[in-house]
Amino acid sequence: MARRSIGIVLNGVTGRMGYRQHLVRSILAIRDQGGLTTADGTVLWPEPILVGRSEVKLRAIAERHGLTEWSTDLGEALARPGVEVYFDTQITGARAAAVRTAIEAGKHVYTEKPLAEDVEEALELARLADEAGIRHGVVQDKLFLPGLLKLKRLVDGGFFGRILSVRGEFGYWVFEGDWQEAQRPSWNYRVEDGGGIIADMFCHWRYVLDNVIAPVRSVQALGAIHIPERVDENGKPYAATADDAAYGIFELEGGVIAQVNSSWTTRVFRDELVEFQVDGTEGSAVAGLRRCRVQHRSMTPKPVWNPDLPATEDFRAQWQEVPDNTEFDNGFKTQWELFLRHVADDGAFPWDFYAGARGVQLAELGLRSWKEGRRIEVPELAK
Ligand SMILES: NC(=O)c1ccc[n+]([C@@H]2O[C@H](COP(=O)([O-])OP(=O)(O)OC[C@H]3O[C@@H](n4cnc5c(N)ncnc54)[C@H](O)[C@@H]3O)[C@@H](O)[C@H]2O)c1
Repeated sequence: MARRSIGIVLNGVTGRMGYRQHLVRSILAIRDQGGLTTADGTVLWPEPILVGRSEVKLRAIAERHGLTEWSTDLGEALARPGVEVYFDTQITGARAAAVRTAIEAGKHVYTEKPLAEDVEEALELARLADEAGIRHGVVQDKLFLPGLLKLKRLVDGGFFGRILSVRGEFGYWVFEGDWQEAQRPSWNYRVEDGGGIIADMFCHWRYVLDNVIAPVRSVQALGAIHIPERVDENGKPYAATADDAAYGIFELEGGVIAQVNSSWTTRVFRDELVEFQVDGTEGSAVAGLRRCRVQHRSMTPKPVWNPDLPATEDFRAQWQEVPDNTEFDNGFKTQWELFLRHVADDGAFPWDFYAGARGVQLAELGLRSWKEGRRIEVPELAK
């Protein structure tokens, strides 16, 4: 069987996402399974080249995983023989410049979201990538979560009848960093470093709503900086200049109304860190990261409002679990496999820079809606 090595420059691999989800759970997991077999029998074999700012950290990661290639110089790494793909998982503010460098070097580019800090820059990257004739893609991991795959299956199977509304709850308490260490990096709370929950999460909500329910046509958002001061990784207090919660209403094609709360300042009273309830004329579903439960029209109870009596029904027990019916792999890995196949001419990859730009567009319009205090139409992006 022919084996084709694909050199992949992974930039930002010392970070949370870069290390855990992309290097360990995706690239190394693909190697552990013996590579990726394409339709013609060729085995694709990813060869990671770790890139970052700290040689000490890169060397430690490489040694831990038996890897030999790393660099603190992006240009030099891209020029190494065998490199075909550039992957970016740096902080958001550092992304566009590095992606440009990779496009100029003629590499295929796959990147974490958001693609850029504003839609103009995102579209410019898409245009440059097309002109250079490279393959491009943006991480849209939530589409590959078991819970959302089961939800999509219900939509495709016509379970809901006419979909009326979607209610999404995302969030958890991110510690301020004073008496307990924060579990997210401090740049997330500084707008000057590309932080903010609208910039972070609205690109996810864009592809989730567009792909699973219906295309987003308008946005109305209210952001908030609930915790104005936090303490950083070095124990130093800093002003939190970026939104740590966002309350959004989105109108979708066909009149569906989606409300999504995104918050790093809420305590979880849910089964999963994100949950979407979809209500339709024929039935409803609640989907999380892994689970999806349904209640069909025929199984819907008839509650009667009476605050004088304690609730007599266990409403949660009236829902049914949607079976997996298949094995779900890690979502980041699944999308990596699709991108590598795409690079090797072994399949389509619809989650390109234009899809990434649509995510950036929703974040940008969400921020504008908050600032101007009004509902804003989401126009089609010209390719
Ligand atoms: N798809 C998802 O679900 C998901 C989840 C979290 C984060 N992300 C995205 O992944 C990217 C990385 O996020 P993270 O949470 O891993 O962040 P992180 O702070 O843990 O890692 C950031 C990486 O960027 C590097 N970096 C480059 N320039 C830097 C600078 N000037 N200051 C600080 N670090 C710099 C760091 O060395 C580190 O390797 C972001 O763009 C974020 O939006 C995606």
